[in-house]
Amino acid sequence: DWTPDQFIETTVEDLRNLIGNDKVVLGLSGGVDSSVAAMLIHQAIGKNLYCIFVDNGLLRHDEFQSVLDSYQHMGLNVKGVNAKASFYTALAGLTDPELKRKAIGRVFIEVFDQEAHQIEDVKWLAQGTIYPDVIESVSVKGPSVTIKSHHNVGGLPDFMKLKVVEPLKALFKDEVRLVGKTLNIDDLILSRHPFPGPGLAIRIIGDITPQKVQILQQVDHIFISGLRTSGLYNEVWQAGAMLLPVQSVGVMGDERTYENVVALRAVTSVDGMTADWAHLPYEFLANVSNEIINKVKGVNRVVYDISSKPPATIEWE
Ligand code: XMP
Repeated sequence: DWTPDQFIETTVEDLRNLIGNDKVVLGLSGGVDSSVAAMLIHQAIGKNLYCIFVDNGLLRHDEFQSVLDSYQHMGLNVKGVNAKASFYTALAGLTDPELKRKAIGRVFIEVFDQEAHQIEDVKWLAQGTIYPDVIESVSVKGPSVTIKSHHNVGGLPDFMKLKVVEPLKALFKDEVRLVGKTLNIDDLILSRHPFPGPGLAIRIIGDITPQKVQILQQVDHIFISGLRTSGLYNEVWQAGAMLLPVQSVGVMGDERTYENVVALRAVTSVDGMTADWAHLPYEFLANVSNEIINKVKGVNRVVYDISSKPPATIEWE
């Protein structure tokens, strides 16, 4: 029978034999898969694993720094790269969801390629691909940090010519979590909800500006912190907020306001393929809504998405 301890033991040994003294590069996303893959390879080859964690400016509030800190505590050889400006520049004026995804995928590859070039004599590209990615049963609409060959436009970036190592290729998500737990990976990372590779860019309907990202980060942070403190975080599969390109009238004291609407979305699911909207307590929703409207400048109305998948998708774009 499969056990995480036995899997770790044989995988680490196999990785050592396969990689030897070569150098390996890996892109961390903050998610479970890339983190567990990194820790396994780290056990096998230590500092010869070079991890790259890119700040695309589309992550959650404070997430880049806190996740980078956890990676460093885990002993990983990780480089944090602030590439926000490149992503914002590439996204400026784009409103079509697929064009946004393509722009993000392209910039990620440019940044990653540039970083990989700085690792002298790197031989391998490691990826946190898991079994559902292999059979493509997971519904993803576009580029994530898992680099697939169709992302390249024009010439092949150099890192794609590297040999590929994917230690989680035969595992399901729950097995990856068990392996991660056995490897003592921070719960902050292990119990994290799925988060799309294009990040907040596909939760800002319409064009992206740094100001909109900041507004959405504040809204999302209030919602997610609320879920955590109410003990509801682990009850839902995924949660987040959408910033809508819709303004609505409100009142604040004697003043009439005309500001943005945000939609909260939380779903229960087993694999993301189908999902039900999460029946969160009204009290909880009321508190979150009040806090958002009182604290986030630019937002005067909160709605809750009660659509299930199918026919709605989890993300709005
Ligand atoms: P949908 O919106 O299709 O989402 O119901 C299903 C799951 O996939 C995630 N998702 C993405 N993940 N790149 C990703 O890495 C993407 O472009 C993307 N689009 C959706 C979504 O967050 C959910 O977990």
